[in-house]
Amino acid sequence: MAHFLLPFTLSLLATLSLTYPATAKPASTSPFKLGAEKLSHFQFYWHDIQSGSNPTSISILKSPPNTPAATGFGTVNMIDDPLTEKPENSSQMLGRAQGFYGLASQEEMGLIMVMNFVFMTGRYNGSTLTVLGRNPVARKVREMPVIGGTGLFRFARGYVHASTYSLNMQTRDAVVKYNAYVLHY
Ligand SMILES: *[C@@H]1O[C@H](CO)[C@@H](O)[C@H](O)[C@H]1NC(C)=O
Ligand SMILES: *[C@@H]1O[C@H](CO)[C@@H](O)[C@H](O)[C@H]1NC(C)=O
Repeated sequence: MAHFLLPFTLSLLATLSLTYPATAKPASTSPFKLGAEKLSHFQFYWHDIQSGSNPTSISILKSPPNTPAATGFGTVNMIDDPLTEKPENSSQMLGRAQGFYGLASQEEMGLIMVMNFVFMTGRYNGSTLTVLGRNPVARKVREMPVIGGTGLFRFARGYVHASTYSLNMQTRDAVVKYNAYVLHY
């Protein structure tokens, strides 16, 4: 079992100042025996693909025609976006971001993001983190809260910093770098 867990652990260790010792045991299965709380830092890339025959982000609600158009206020997308180790879509997939975002601001391109990061490799396979926050996409760095988690991320809290890596203005396909800082046991 240890050898297939290794690549993901190493890739995380390589990018980050992880406080997670490589030998750490999985979290206790009993909620009454918590280990020491630790701060973990993860970095990955989020791919929001609206174009092509296999989009990972689809518009499920459009704002009514008489809505002031500038900020797209009212539009909602459902997402099942790949999370990869590097910005290229061919790099190792670490998991997916599943949820939705809506354009919630009348003043700027301001999203409300509601999503679960579902990790699918390494020791975090099957564990999830939940992000719910405000994402004013034109800003360089957007901070959103991590409000919980499951599996190895039970009792998680923390924040993410999201910064746009690339955006195609025609297709609206976007790659966004996420840095997550998470307290968990
Ligand atoms: C990966 O990115 C390339 C270049 O941007 C693009 O041509 C290709 O369709 C993408 N592949 C997938 C599976 O999204
Ligand atoms: C992740 O867990 C699932 C379900 O237990 C398993 O089917 C899959 O092979 C695992 N993936 C990796 C890369 O370990």
